[in-house]
Amino acid sequence: MPRVIIEPHPPFDVEAGTSLLDASEDAGFALESDCGGVAACNACRVDVLEGMENLSPEGDEEAPFLDADDQRLGCQACVLGDVRVRPAAGL
Ligand code: FES
Repeated sequence: MPRVIIEPHPPFDVEAGTSLLDASEDAGFALESDCGGVAACNACRVDVLEGMENLSPEGDEEAPFLDADDQRLGCQACVLGDVRVRPAAGL
């Protein structure tokens, strides 16, 4: 199973295909979410520190929310392999 690190929390394993938002909720330290995970609030945005290639491809609905190439929406990015992220600065 893929290993996820959401800084500053300890690593945990998730089923492949789980969104970062769902994975964080399952692990007990949920990313912020004000829209229920439908790419409408931007609260779940993360900086991807390692493993961008191990996330599902970026969807068109994410682009308006992302300020940098290393960012994703946690509700839209599904974990396919090991990844390390942190909540985006300024949120
Ligand atoms: S939870 Fe609202 S954009 Fe991801």
